[in-house]
Amino acid sequence: MRRSLPLLIVVAASFLLAACGSEGNSVTGQSAAIESGSQLFAARCSGCHTLSVVGAEGSAAEVSSAEKTNGPNFNTRQECYENVIYAIQNGGFSGAIMPANIVVGKESEQVAAFLAKYAGSEAMDRTTKCPATPATAGG
Ligand code: HEC
Repeated sequence: MRRSLPLLIVVAASFLLAACGSEGNSVTGQSAAIESGSQLFAARCSGCHTLSVVGAEGSAAEVSSAEKTNGPNFNTRQECYENVIYAIQNGGFSGAIMPANIVVGKESEQVAAFLAKYAGSEAMDRTTKCPATPATAGG
C-alpha cells in the first residue's frame, strides 16, 4: 500500500499535465453562435493560436522554442470580424502557413464573431475601431 503511493501521485500528476492546453473553455452566457464559435476555435485553431478564454496555447511562448506554424496570440492581438473571415478564407494574412478554409460557411462566421468579441482582451490598448460584427453572423 505504502509503496504504491508515490506511483499514484506520478500517475495523477501526468493526467493533470496532459489536460493542459485542451481544457478550460470559459465562454458562457453568450449567444449560441458565439459559444459555437468558441468551441470551433478550441477544436480547430488552438493548435497554432493562443487564447486563454478557451484554454488555447498554440502560439509560441518564447522565441527560442517558436515553430514556423505558431500563429499570433489572440490574448494580445485584437481582430475585426472581416479580417478573421479574410484570414480563414486565405490562410492567415499571408497565405503562407495557415491552412485556408479550416472552417467554412456558417461555422467560419461563428468563429469570426467569437474572435472579434474576445481577441485582444489583454491588448495594451484596444483602440482598433472595427466595423460592427454583422448581426446575422453565424445566425
Ligand atoms: C497550422 C497552424 C494554424 C492553424 C491551425 C490556424 N492558424 Fe491562424 N495563423 C497561423 C499563422 C502562422 C498565422 C500568421 C501568418 C499569416 O498571417 O499568414 C496565422 C494568422 C491568423 C490570423 C491573422 C492574425 C493577425 O492579426 O495577423 C487570423 C485572424 C487567424 N490566423 C485566425 C485563425 C483561425 C480562426 C483559425 C481556426 C479556424 C486558425 N487561425 C487556425 C497559423 C494557424
